[in-house]
Amino acid sequence: MKDFILAGPERAIRNAWRSLRRWRNSSCGYNVLGISSTGHGASFALASSAHGVRALNLDRFLRKKYAVLLSQAEHDEIRAGKTDFGKTTRYLLSEGVHDLPPISVFETAWRSFLDALLRGTGLGPGDIDLVVASESHFAVNCFQLGRKLGRYFPNAEIVTNIEHHAIHRFQAFLSSPFDEAAVLTLDNCGEPLGRLGGSPLAITLSSVQNAAFAVHREHTFPESSPGLLYHWFTNYLGFRSGEEGKTMGLSSYGRDSCYRALSPHLEMHDNGAFRFLGHKELQATLSDLGAKPRRPGTSIEPIHGDVARAGQMLLDNIVTNAVTALARLTPSRNLCLAGGVALNSVSNERAFRRSRFQNLYVMPNAGDCGQALGCALYGAHVLRRDRKSRGLLSDSLGPPYTDSEVVAALRAANLEPVVCPDIAASVAGLLAAGFVVGWFQGGSEYGPRALGRRSILADPRPQPMKDYLNCHVKHRESFRPYAPAVLEDKSAEWFDLKGTSPYMLRVVDVRPEKRSTLAAVTHVDGTARVQTVSRYENPLFYDLIRKFENRTGVPVVLNTSFNRAGEPIVETPADAIECFMSTRIDALAIHNFLITKST
Ligand SMILES: [Fe+2]
Repeated sequence: MKDFILAGPERAIRNAWRSLRRWRNSSCGYNVLGISSTGHGASFALASSAHGVRALNLDRFLRKKYAVLLSQAEHDEIRAGKTDFGKTTRYLLSEGVHDLPPISVFETAWRSFLDALLRGTGLGPGDIDLVVASESHFAVNCFQLGRKLGRYFPNAEIVTNIEHHAIHRFQAFLSSPFDEAAVLTLDNCGEPLGRLGGSPLAITLSSVQNAAFAVHREHTFPESSPGLLYHWFTNYLGFRSGEEGKTMGLSSYGRDSCYRALSPHLEMHDNGAFRFLGHKELQATLSDLGAKPRRPGTSIEPIHGDVARAGQMLLDNIVTNAVTALARLTPSRNLCLAGGVALNSVSNERAFRRSRFQNLYVMPNAGDCGQALGCALYGAHVLRRDRKSRGLLSDSLGPPYTDSEVVAALRAANLEPVVCPDIAASVAGLLAAGFVVGWFQGGSEYGPRALGRRSILADPRPQPMKDYLNCHVKHRESFRPYAPAVLEDKSAEWFDLKGTSPYMLRVVDVRPEKRSTLAAVTHVDGTARVQTVSRYENPLFYDLIRKFENRTGVPVVLNTSFNRAGEPIVETPADAIECFMSTRIDALAIHNFLITKST
């Protein structure tokens, strides 16, 4: 299968000319910009021979959750909703249930967003020599961005029209530690594909060696869309698109009654495809079971837990079936999961444990928002032939801030920067004493999980800590669990975990004898979405947990994202200070500065 197509002879000639000029003007350095502009969420990523890999989500930059990036033309059509394209896109973006997400127009936002990504590198648009962009999957033939990019990046070769599922494959495999792997892509849908009679893909089974992919099976939207099925359940429960994690968390409270009634309608095939009820049939069946659609903001009843459990178990079966089908098609023992459905850590773990695969890798920003990194790594690894540009050591890909920038932000908020000689020891002491601490260190996480760079930390032991955080700090639903971060070398003593989970994308059992100790991070069904922390990847965070263990005997801290409900994770020092001041977070550890509410 062809993974990318240059759109038209004019672009091909222009790109050839720019490649030739680049070859004459430079030796082997490169600066590749990846742009994700599809679906819910957008981001930019840089892969540079001199500056390494960086990536930044638009919603963190704009401070608006789920922001999407569209061209001016797309924006105007959607807002007007007059054309078929405008109406369809409007429906897809809003899912026919909720308001449109925040939309940012590329032509006005690109420069300041790019500057934020490149801060401190000395690079500008003229230094970018290759742009690889995912196109809008709502309007692949009328999207203007690809044609316009050449104006903004005068020295860059422009590559667009890589298929949506191909980018997901690059995103997963090129960031993985594997030399070869089976790659399973699962999402809601990609773009309409002419080669499939206009159908979008929803499941792709593939394998890869040295970035050469073999695509074994492809299944289309809407019949075989796991993302769409889970989205129906999420919407039925009154949650919006992007809040699928709430359905996953709620599912642990449910009983099996809804699942037992719905599972006979799930038909799974040996090739990884599936068939299920249509949307209206599902609604009617749930209604017959006594589960009416929940309106957003209303109370959550036990029946809603049953509905969530049904959706989760159906998804578990679908993912397991697709993983099993892929295992029959490739001898690889390494499994990469790609696409937005791969963020469902419950299904990941159940499918992986039922399979013959030995190793699992899930890219930390597996959904559409993370496609910018797939584009950038594809540009560096395949188009610029830098074979070393593979594998992520860390998800800390956001641009870093200097101490002087932190001091300036603190002073602007009338806070005195107090230097702490051992920030890890001081924070460990605060946590052991029951205080809640905001933790801001290094570049932000690219994916949706806070992994020790933009985190709120607390003691994982007292059960009331969970309710305190939900009520007074995060302001979110009481059923939602909190996650543990554990020293990697101690993880097997506390959790039933095979291997590691550095990106908090695996849900495993807390060992039964440890559940009462880890009361604040053990979910109602005895599980936890665990993060393993290694000294190699994040030495300061590892040091903090080690010092907490020295005080308490527990090598675990409660780790949740540094934000309030409905807001993106904090990105800048100013964002962190604002969140700290407006919640009941007791102390802020930002670089080596420790600020407490009493100072
Ligand atoms: Fe996708």
